[in-house]
Amino acid sequence: MTNKSVRDYIRTIVDFPHEGILFRDVTTLFADPRGFRIAIDQLLAPYAGMRFDKVAGLEARGFILGGAVAHQLSTGFVPIRKKGKLPGRTVSVSYQLEYGEAVVEVHDDAIQAGERILLVDDLLATGGTAEAGIRLIEQLGGEVVGCAFVVDLPDLGGRKKLEAMGMEVHALCAFEGL
Ligand code: PRP
Ligand code: MG
Repeated sequence: MTNKSVRDYIRTIVDFPHEGILFRDVTTLFADPRGFRIAIDQLLAPYAGMRFDKVAGLEARGFILGGAVAHQLSTGFVPIRKKGKLPGRTVSVSYQLEYGEAVVEVHDDAIQAGERILLVDDLLATGGTAEAGIRLIEQLGGEVVGCAFVVDLPDLGGRKKLEAMGMEVHALCAFEGL
């Protein structure tokens, strides 16, 4: 038996993708059978008894978590993808990166007006990606009922940004510092 927490399964890689960055690598969490299971269980825990129509996952690691979460909730899964990947008609939102701009898209028929959505991603940093995902869901008339992440980097302000939008933010662990 082990009492390792979700945080203990996450590997830190120094100087990736740039010098000075500590990259929080969740592949070691996903690769561990117990780690992956407790992560999914803990992502779901605050929502026990709540009803969702769909889970939306943010490309790319949010797909791995979101698929498992949707299976547990017996909902459908909606991928929010980077520009140019989805074959059907889409709506899109652009957001700021450290250098330049990125665009995320969702199929315009993936969410119906009034549907209750759980948004899932691996990590919350500045919150730019999650905010863009929320805007997309709201453009289609969906209601983001919860935002669930494995990792929060509180010093980058994402949680505050999402909470200021009125979102409920749930994260399994935090890493202080940049
Ligand atoms: C990372 C991470 C989150 C996002 C968080 O994804 O997986 O999706 O950044 O950053 P933010 O809160 O500042 O927006 P990344 O854009 O590196 O892409 P990937 O998941 O496709 O690897
Ligand atoms: Mg990502």
